[in-house]
Amino acid sequence: MLNTPPLRRLRRLRSSEAMRDLLRETHISLSDLIHPLFIEEHITHAVPISTLPGISRLPETALAEEVRELYALGIRYVMPFGISHTKDDKGSDTWDDNGLLARMVRTIKAAVPEMMVIPDICFCEYTDHGHCGVVHNNEVCNDLTVENLVKQSITAAKAGADMLAPSAMMDGQVKAIRQGLDAAGFEHVAILAHSAKFASSFYGPFRAAVDCELSGNRKGYQLDYANGRQALLEASLDEAEGADILMVKPGTPYLDVLSRLRQETHLPLAAYQVGGEYAGIKFAALAGALDERAVVTETFVGLKRAGADLIVSYYTKQYAQWLAESR
Ligand code: PBG
Ligand code: ZN
Repeated sequence: MLNTPPLRRLRRLRSSEAMRDLLRETHISLSDLIHPLFIEEHITHAVPISTLPGISRLPETALAEEVRELYALGIRYVMPFGISHTKDDKGSDTWDDNGLLARMVRTIKAAVPEMMVIPDICFCEYTDHGHCGVVHNNEVCNDLTVENLVKQSITAAKAGADMLAPSAMMDGQVKAIRQGLDAAGFEHVAILAHSAKFASSFYGPFRAAVDCELSGNRKGYQLDYANGRQALLEASLDEAEGADILMVKPGTPYLDVLSRLRQETHLPLAAYQVGGEYAGIKFAALAGALDERAVVTETFVGLKRAGADLIVSYYTKQYAQWLAESR
């Protein structure tokens, strides 16, 4: 047997570019990618984010132009994050019809009505303590926070959001938001649930980006990253509560969770390639240590191969520009 040649030579499947193209199982297109945007109130010029080279906080006056540019590049989905100067202990600016969140959504939809707007639904960028909800006795109070998430969600829907991405990791938030939206006449607005959101140090660059004043940590509400089974439980609850899409976040260190979730649900899945993942690639590329485009493509393919149908990534605009350049 040892001396007989192999009958099945898999190298036949890799023998030419045409053969490899024919047999490729996983493809990336701009319709898989969601671009996060950072919008800061009361600034007049874009402010580069030092922890995320290549990404800036934009003034509200630059948002319409940016969205038109993204759409012209072929990007069809954006996730706006606000950097608030109107913080309080609850994040009440998020449910003000003239607050930053509502203004961002309206500006984007007015600039490009076809652009799908999927705002992050949370409080940490709008609270003076930096936690993702109402703090009571040094803890984030679940049910009070959920009530406020419903108010924020209806405000975002009223402003024209197409889909909401609640990320506070409160118990029952998806059910309450779904019921609140339906009762307010927004049954067409979808929910992209941050189902398995882990308490991760990969969020470090993001917190610097949004000026989050958090003291302490989010381990009382975000998942313990050692727990894969509990992540699947969180996701199954969100599915039962009416989520339309389930998301795992961060992405690359949690491919096992994505892949197990893919076996357990028939809902579409999303992965969020977070700030720390972007920064890791970007700083290595700036140091000349790796081929940025090739590595970004490899991470996108890895996330999709593991089970993600869509990816939220700070590399979306750069990826679209790479595609445009090589066309
Ligand atoms: C807050 C929120 C976080 C991110 C998105 N929404 C961070 C956190 O929980 O501290 C992280 C995004 C990133 O790291 O790129 N609800
Ligand atoms: Zn938050």
